[in-house]
Amino acid sequence: MSQRDLKKGSGELFRDEGQDGLLHRAFLRGGGFSEDDVRRSPVIGIANSASEFNPCNAGLRELSEFVKEGIREAGGLPVEFPTISISEPYTRPTSMYLRNLMSMDVEEMIGATPIDGVVLLGGCDKTVPAQIMGALSADKPAVMLVAGPRPVSCFQKNREFTVDDVWPVCEDRRVGLVNDEDWRELEGRSNIGVGTCNVMGTATTMAAVAEMLGFALPGSSLPAANSPERREIARETGRMIVRSVAAGLLPSALVTDRSLENAFRVVTALGGSTNAVIHLEAIAGRAGLRIGADRFEAWSAGTPYVANVRPGGTRLLSDLDAAGGVPAIVHRIREVIHADAVTATGATWDELLEGRSFDDHDAIAPVDKPLSERGALIMLKGNLAPRGAVLKAAGVHVPGLRHHRGKAVVFDGIEDLNARIDDADLDVDADSVLVLRGMGVLGAPGMPEVGHIPIPAKLHRAGVTDMLRLSDARMSGTSTGTVVLHITPESAAGGPLGFIATGDEIELDAAAGVIRHFLTDEEIAARIPQAAPVAQPRGMAWLHQRHVMQADDGCDFDFLRAAGVEATDPTLPKSTGDSL
Ligand code: FES
Repeated sequence: MSQRDLKKGSGELFRDEGQDGLLHRAFLRGGGFSEDDVRRSPVIGIANSASEFNPCNAGLRELSEFVKEGIREAGGLPVEFPTISISEPYTRPTSMYLRNLMSMDVEEMIGATPIDGVVLLGGCDKTVPAQIMGALSADKPAVMLVAGPRPVSCFQKNREFTVDDVWPVCEDRRVGLVNDEDWRELEGRSNIGVGTCNVMGTATTMAAVAEMLGFALPGSSLPAANSPERREIARETGRMIVRSVAAGLLPSALVTDRSLENAFRVVTALGGSTNAVIHLEAIAGRAGLRIGADRFEAWSAGTPYVANVRPGGTRLLSDLDAAGGVPAIVHRIREVIHADAVTATGATWDELLEGRSFDDHDAIAPVDKPLSERGALIMLKGNLAPRGAVLKAAGVHVPGLRHHRGKAVVFDGIEDLNARIDDADLDVDADSVLVLRGMGVLGAPGMPEVGHIPIPAKLHRAGVTDMLRLSDARMSGTSTGTVVLHITPESAAGGPLGFIATGDEIELDAAAGVIRHFLTDEEIAARIPQAAPVAQPRGMAWLHQRHVMQADDGCDFDFLRAAGVEATDPTLPKSTGDSL
């Protein structure tokens, strides 16, 4: 329509006195905006990922109206637009498969739309990193508001029933321990409102990351989805984006080595999700930075794990919120935080916390008596994971499994797992090491959250609650167990996991940060390598197969990273796509 200014979209187009300005204002007026409305400035886009197929984000529709109030109060013109929305429960093969696509949608819409800044409305796991990645690449002022956790329910005798409580009931049902009536009751009890998972899963972990990177207002992660507090945060987010535009605060200035370190240290102090490792590396890559497994491990090893919150701890997110939320965690671990990093308010953490104190609360342990001296995530390496793997130590149920050697029971993909895991004749005992491969970012594709291999039915019935499990998959942040994830390179990219056979010895030594096998080079040479994935002829599958990078590169598409960031090890295949 506009033929005069083909530059990337900016709010300037609304302020233009010529044909462009007239057309921009006229079309909005046709949509119901007033003559005064269309002359407000700055113009603020609201990128909304609300969707009926994403109940975690459904509350964002209402919250958007409060964001608009805040923008108008500050003088701005709010204009909402939709983006794709990816949800954990409904997206196949996995939400991660579409994270990069969503980031491209967000980037291109921010770039193409005539706005001066944007409010990002996200929530469910992948929507938050996708929006941060897209906003970073677009680099217009951006402030994020997350959906907030959904309410806690009650189920039978459990008066505080959270999402992590659902998985054991599902396990019991699988082995015939839950009757039909209870199963139906669970359907109505597991989610009693909109909002994100109500424990420290991936959504809340990434919300905390958004706070630490300066995208979301400090303290905005934990208030409940439908609370008055969250509505006020929405209004303040609206006011804040107008101030951010005036100050010229760009995402590229927010994501630095120091803010990335702060973010990961807080994740490990919170007992946060393993998925944060992948998303933070992807976010770093969009900013032209690299973190790497060694720095992740050094940061986690040097940070006390203090948040006593589910699923690793015992208290609810609302307790952690009452204790002061993310700002209280920052205050508690202040010695290892770069307090000069900027928050979404424009003030540094130092300025924000100056003179503040937080009452003692058992949702946050003191630093001299932490839940663990080190952070909750352990980065592993070894001949089984040359480019790394991760273990959520906070999720280990049987401490002895942190150092364990046992015989592998190997499953090739999810169909094989489902077909054999509950077979009464499966040769497995509590000391076995369950291995699931072919579930990496190329092989599955998209690295689904299936690394939390179920305990075989006969062992579950016998009371076994945890086993050492290994995979090139990911795991839900709401799950727990001794589960080694993100083994890189994945088996479909030629990683050593592909050579392991049932009966091989495998050892995890979490204290030493090692995951290894004991095969000789001759034995490996005699093994048949995993077949490369079938070549995809078109569309998203084609794009993904040719351009997705391995987990240690954040699973981003290689062409989306900022210039100058090399892949971890260019000698190893980034993708099998080119050879297909
Ligand atoms: Fe959406 Fe957990 S399923 S936040």
